[in-house]
Amino acid sequence: MNVYRPHLAIIEKIKQENDDTRTFSLRFIRKKIRDEFRFKPGQFNMISVFGFGEAPFSISSDPEIKGRFEHTIRRVGTLTNALFGFDEGHVVGVRGPFGNGWPLDKAKGKNLLLIAGGTGLISLRPAIYHIMRNRSEFGDVELLYGARSPSNLLFIDEHNLWARSKNFRMFLTVEKVSNGLKWDYEMGVITEHLDKIKTDNNPIVFLCGPEIMMKYTLKELMRLGFKKHQIYLSMERRMRCGIGKCGHCQIGPKYVCRDGPVFVYDDVENLPDKLL
Ligand SMILES: Cc1cc2nc3c(=O)[nH]c(=O)nc-3n(C[C@H](O)[C@H](O)[C@H](O)COP(=O)(O)OP(=O)(O)OC[C@H]3O[C@@H](n4cnc5c(N)ncnc54)[C@H](O)[C@@H]3O)c2cc1C
Ligand code: FES
Repeated sequence: MNVYRPHLAIIEKIKQENDDTRTFSLRFIRKKIRDEFRFKPGQFNMISVFGFGEAPFSISSDPEIKGRFEHTIRRVGTLTNALFGFDEGHVVGVRGPFGNGWPLDKAKGKNLLLIAGGTGLISLRPAIYHIMRNRSEFGDVELLYGARSPSNLLFIDEHNLWARSKNFRMFLTVEKVSNGLKWDYEMGVITEHLDKIKTDNNPIVFLCGPEIMMKYTLKELMRLGFKKHQIYLSMERRMRCGIGKCGHCQIGPKYVCRDGPVFVYDDVENLPDKLL
C-alpha cells in the first residue's frame, strides 16, 4: 500500500462558522475505507486539494459518528483558498488519521481544564464530544475559550449544550467587541482570567491555540502552581509526509506529526527552538 496516496472523499456539507472559517463534512467514496475509518480526539488528517497541495487539519467531529467526519478550516493561504472555492459534491484527498491525540485515558476519574485560543477549539471539540458521551468517567470539566471578537467564536450553536451539561463550566472571553454589540461574557485575553478557574484537585489540562497564546498561558499556569506533567498541549508545524519520514515537522528529537501533535509540557519545554 502506498502511504502517500490519499483516499478520495466527497464534501457532503459545508457550514460557514464565521467570516473566514468553514466546517466541511466529508465522506470517503470507497465503502471499505468509510467503514474502517476511526479516529481519536486530537488526531489530524492530511487533506489534499488536487493541484494546490496537501496540509494537516485536525478532525473536528464526534469520534463516535461513523461514515463521515468533519474538518473545520480557516482560510489562510493557497490550499485553503482553493478549498473555499469548492461547493458541496466536490472531491478532496484524505490521508490519516495521524498523530497521537488527547490522552483522555489519563484524564479518567480526574477534573479537566480545557483551554482553547481561537482555532484551538477545533482540535478540542472531539474531546468535548467524548467527555459528554462518557460524562461519568470524568470529574468537573471547565472550558476556557478565548477569541479575538464574538464574530470569531467557533461552534456557537453548541455552546449552550456544553454549558448546560452537568459539572461542565464554560468561560468565554474576547479581546474586543464592536460598537453596539451585546456581549454578556468576559473581555480580555485568556491569561487575564486563569485565576478564575474553579477546577481544583490537580486537574489535567488540555491546551490548544496559537503558539504565543500557549506560551503565556503556560507561564501563568506555572505561576498558579500547576505541574508540568499535568499539562498537555497540541503543537502545529508545517508538515509534508505526516508520518515521521521527511523530518519537515521536526523540533529537536521530536517529530510533531508522529510523536505529537499532543505533547506533555514536561517533554517540550526545553526543545531547541524555545517557542514555549
Ligand atoms: C497538526 C495540525 C493540525 C491543524 N489543524 C488545523 C485545523 O483544524 N484547521 C485549520 O484551519 N488549520 C489547521 N492547521 C494549520 C494548517 O495546516 C495550515 O494553516 C496550512 O498551512 C494551511 O494551508 P494553506 O496552503 O491554505 O496556507 P499556506 O499557504 O501554507 O499559508 C499558511 C500560513 O503560513 C504562512 N506561510 C506560508 N508559507 C510560509 C513559510 N514558508 N513559512 C512560514 N509561514 C508561511 C502564510 O502567510 C499563512 O499565514 C493544522 C496544522 C497542524 C500541524
Ligand atoms: S511531516 Fe514528515 S516527519 Fe513530520
